[in-house]
Amino acid sequence: MSRAYEIPPGTVAVEDYEALARERLPADAFAYIAGGAADEGTLRRNRAAFDDIRLRSRVLADLRGGGTWLELFGTALDHPILVAPTGRHRLADPDGERATVVGAGGARAAMVVSTEADHTLEEVAAVARTPLWFQLYIQHDRGFTADLVRRAEAAGYRALVVTVDAPVFGARNREQRAFYRGPKLSEFANLRGLHTRHVAHAELGESLMFGGFLDVVPRWEDIARLRALTRLPLILKGIMTPEDAGRALAEGADGIIVSNHGGRILDGQPASLEALPAVARAVEGRVPVLMDGGIRRGTDVLKALALGARAVLVGRPCLYGLAVAGPAGVAHVLHLLRCEFEMAMVLTGCRTLADIGPQVLWPAGQAQ
Ligand SMILES: Cc1cc2nc3c(=O)[nH]c(=O)nc-3n(C[C@H](O)[C@H](O)[C@H](O)COP(=O)(O)O)c2cc1C
Repeated sequence: MSRAYEIPPGTVAVEDYEALARERLPADAFAYIAGGAADEGTLRRNRAAFDDIRLRSRVLADLRGGGTWLELFGTALDHPILVAPTGRHRLADPDGERATVVGAGGARAAMVVSTEADHTLEEVAAVARTPLWFQLYIQHDRGFTADLVRRAEAAGYRALVVTVDAPVFGARNREQRAFYRGPKLSEFANLRGLHTRHVAHAELGESLMFGGFLDVVPRWEDIARLRALTRLPLILKGIMTPEDAGRALAEGADGIIVSNHGGRILDGQPASLEALPAVARAVEGRVPVLMDGGIRRGTDVLKALALGARAVLVGRPCLYGLAVAGPAGVAHVLHLLRCEFEMAMVLTGCRTLADIGPQVLWPAGQAQ
């Protein structure tokens, strides 16, 4: 099934896409995409942290020959804005992730494909014209998990993004209030054939989390096992502290994504932007540190890079673009962010990404 794609006139920023997506999506789908955990304090903080930072403009610099290119894990990229892994793209477009990846290609953005995609990782790779990374949720069946890794390697994915911050779901009250219901694990395209073990049988009064469930959730030893299993770059997503960053490196991680899962898991965490500087300091440039959470403007990309990120990932805005105008909407959202980012570089006197540093940030609490 396909539909007519049209970007409505006057759609000039990510927030316009969000407003249109809210009008067009069914209420339960919008709640799933836009919502966060519990009271959504972390979700709001992800945005507020960017708003709290101001920029220092510079004038008349010679910026000839500059650009936004970079190399990440051996892959040359045009710019540092990637599509974050998000599940269930068919909620936004009948062609699901296959539409998203076409849009990402249009904007020359690399894409991280979720374990919980509505198409198999092979189906997405078949239509991709842009570098792909595979986001792995370690399943309780570790043999099945190893097969997923082998499938990603065979399909040409260039890195493995292991999401480590979601051993349990957050308290998704907004979803619950909108009566959102997701599929069972084994119904996801990539997880067909997975034998699911149900943990929902606990009696009232019995511990839900500690009653056997924690025997099967991922632990650090799983990272060591993955390291031994694959030669793909291993990137841990969902690190928020210097301690965990240090352990990730000790276990052989090739990269880190500072993320609180878009505020969807543990409400009460700080913004990922707030967690970024300490993690970047701990990593000391030994591996690339990326971040996601709350990026809605090109100036946000600049701020994240100034605080130590090598690149950023964008989650909800891509889904809003997808819901509004399919692949064209995804491409347009990413294009807008890139244009705004380039403007921000020019206006703060940065010729290349290497020039972006703390000097572009107005010192907090100071007039100068
Ligand atoms: C609808 C939705 C589904 C998501 N699914 C996944 C997922 O399957 N795997 C994962 O690692 N992160 C998932 N995330 C988190 C994103 O990768 C990312 O961390 C977050 O969306 C970034 O924040 P932003 O939406 O403010 O850009 C999901 C986020 C959303 C909004």
